Amino acid sequence: MDQHIVIFASGSGSNSEAIAEYLQKHNVAGISLIMSNRHDAYVLERAKSLNIPSLYFSRTDLYNDVLVLNRLIRENPSLIVLAGFLWLLPVNIISKFPDRIVNIHPSLLPAFGGKGMYGSKVHEAVIAMGCEESGITIHYVNERYDEGDIIFQARCEVFDDDTPESLAQRIHQLEHFWYPRIIEKLLTGTKITDQDNTS
Ligand code: GRF
Repeated sequence: MDQHIVIFASGSGSNSEAIAEYLQKHNVAGISLIMSNRHDAYVLERAKSLNIPSLYFSRTDLYNDVLVLNRLIRENPSLIVLAGFLWLLPVNIISKFPDRIVNIHPSLLPAFGGKGMYGSKVHEAVIAMGCEESGITIHYVNERYDEGDIIFQARCEVFDDDTPESLAQRIHQLEHFWYPRIIEKLLTGTKITDQDNTS
């Protein structure tokens, strides 16, 4: 495979695993590294089982040092994929990889995005507002939370009896289906059309 990506994740890493499995099965790209800002994140266990190199880094490594930046330069990935990564990337990384960093957010941005809006907080807010639909957004990353250009969105219903957990489960299914496929399209330069949104 001539292309490879780097993943950043802070938590469980179910998206990272779905991406790894899809890319390998479809012979699209390798994952050269999974980076985490939490040494106890379950994604690091998954990396081990998937035989993917991983690296823990601290706040200092990311913001006050060039450890993370230099490692990314050395990896030279076609795409940097944020999958449940909870910190902002510093400008030196964002400007070094223009249009090569993507994120997934568990709502239909710009709704329910921004600082502090992550994980079950998003789903709690969607339910509290009485929304009839929610969904996922895959977007480019800039120096502000959840504000980069939108690449793709997919929707799902919110039911009257939904809990944050049941909604999260439906959203995760959408994420696991779409994130690998959108990454594949970005890597192969395939146009992402409105039709992708309706399936
Ligand atoms: C996902 O819901 C994603 O949208 C958000 O964080 C969650 C990560 O889940 N950014 P996982 O760690 O991949 O299971």
